[in-house]
Amino acid sequence: MDVLGLRAEFPVLRTRAYLNAGTDGPLPDGAVQAAAGELEREAADGRTFAHFERRKELNGQLRVAYAGALGADPDDVALTTCTSDGMAQTIAGLALSEGDEIVTSDEEHPGLLGALGAARELRGASIREVPMPDVAAAVGPRTRLVACSHVGWMSGLLAPSELTQVDVPVLLDGAQGVGAVPVDVRALGCDAYAGAGQKWLCGPDGLGMLYVSPELSERLEVSRRGYANLQDPNSGIDARLHEDARRFDTLSLSAEAVACALSAVELLESAGWQAVHERARSLAAGLAGQLAERGREVAPRDDTTLVSFASDDAEAERELLAERGCVVRNIPGRPWLRASVGAWNDESDLDRLLSSLAT
Ligand SMILES: Cc1ncc(COP(=O)(O)O)c(C=O)c1O
Repeated sequence: MDVLGLRAEFPVLRTRAYLNAGTDGPLPDGAVQAAAGELEREAADGRTFAHFERRKELNGQLRVAYAGALGADPDDVALTTCTSDGMAQTIAGLALSEGDEIVTSDEEHPGLLGALGAARELRGASIREVPMPDVAAAVGPRTRLVACSHVGWMSGLLAPSELTQVDVPVLLDGAQGVGAVPVDVRALGCDAYAGAGQKWLCGPDGLGMLYVSPELSERLEVSRRGYANLQDPNSGIDARLHEDARRFDTLSLSAEAVACALSAVELLESAGWQAVHERARSLAAGLAGQLAERGREVAPRDDTTLVSFASDDAEAERELLAERGCVVRNIPGRPWLRASVGAWNDESDLDRLLSSLAT
């Protein structure tokens, strides 16, 4: 599939300038068919042994596809329900105690802040919030983890490259990263990378991924155990966790959601990750430039797929844009609207947004 052919696969783009993948990506038609196909099979055949084998097979395929998007070995990738799920597992698994510190940035998403709040409330850990460019320098003797976004959700800033040099584990929140910008977990120097299936990988809600390096994996406690993450689940209470990242798998995923996610990620992969990233980032850069030309202040950003820009009344303008067929979101607590630009978009979407703005 040529990257320019992607657009035709997304029904929502026939009627709207859909610029909201940072919240939830557009769903490809084929992914919807894949989900429907699984449900039809379940309805016709019932859910017996073969159904559970099918679920296992689909999970294996999705793990490989997600690993490809992360530049990781499939053995190091767990299937989760969302980005927040993977971050919560990682942070809880460190079993921190009083006096331990986590360094984070002051512009993180509730998906990470929730897990940090739990570490403080339940474990007595202290959380140090610093501006994003300072997260690496803020590491001190009590720091046990740096946890921050790979791509910031508010305006698309990248985590500082100095993070590759820190000597404590780094957890990256990749909700706005994987599928949008190049990800190579080794080059990023992170020990854990949590991502979303429903955003830039255009899957259904309820799927995500967690990369954990073999070194960190050995150190993480896994309190959540069940059929899905035990290597010998029928051994009763002595059952052991999988040796590889399947130990961090969420405990139940439906065949229909996994088939849907798999179809979506394979569609994007077929266009080539490099082409997908390049097209999305260059369209986003073009939009940022045109907004600035029209006098809209663009929030600080890097070479990513998010473009946030000033609005006098962001909620009202979001609604106005929606009425005009343009889907963007506002950022709570900031006077900004955020457009998420994907490889499936084209100039007509950007023109529609620009011509629909409140004057
Ligand atoms: C940076 C960031 N982290 C975490 C999340 C939460 O993602 P999920 O719903 O996959 O847990 C979001 C969602 O918008 C996000 O932008």
